[in-house]
Formats: sequence, C-alpha cells, structure tokens
Amino acid sequence: MPSLLVTTPSGKRQQLEATIGISIMENIRNAGVVELAALCGGCRCCATCHVYVEIERPDLLPPISDEENDLLDALDHRRDNSRLSCQLVVTAEMGTVSVEIVPET
Ligand code: FES
Repeated sequence: MPSLLVTTPSGKRQQLEATIGISIMENIRNAGVVELAALCGGCRCCATCHVYVEIERPDLLPPISDEENDLLDALDHRRDNSRLSCQLVVTAEMGTVSVEIVPET
C-alpha cells in the first residue's frame, strides 16, 4: 500500500497510509492535516495545495500540465520538485512519497 510522509510548514512529520485513486491533496486533507489549504478543492485554480515531492520513481507521477505549470510559475517558492498535490492521484506503485507542504501558498 502506498504511503505519504507529510511534513507541515512547522516541521511536524506524519506518515499516512494513502488511499489509491484519490489525489495526494485529498489524502492529506482526509487525514485532518489542515496546513494544506487546497482552497479550490482540486479545481487547479488556487495553487494553495503546493507541495515539494520526493519519490523514488518520479516517472510514476503524472506529467505537469500547462495549467499546473503556469500556476506554479506564479509562486515565490517554486522548486524543481514543486507540484500541486491536487493533481497527483495516488497509485499502487508509488511506494512511500515524501510530501512537504509549502508555507504561504
Ligand atoms: S487545490 Fe486548488 S489548485 Fe490544487
């Protein structure tokens, strides 16, 4: 079963068993982690679900769409491993994914 190792902006770490077929954002929110705002609910229009992702096999993540890329470009804290967590649907093959919630996004 895939899992998420979530780090909040305050540095708190939490390991979650991930539900397959829903996004990383939904998994985090369902676990009660309120530090991930995700204000638009996954409509890809707010970028408040911005996270830094570490995964052993990045090829298992869906590619970044033009729309996601544009939203990430508008952020101050974009890194190479920045993603919108609402765009990352969990699959069985992912293993453990480290997800750092980016502050002030
Ligand atoms: S929740 Fe708004 S873009 Fe992801």
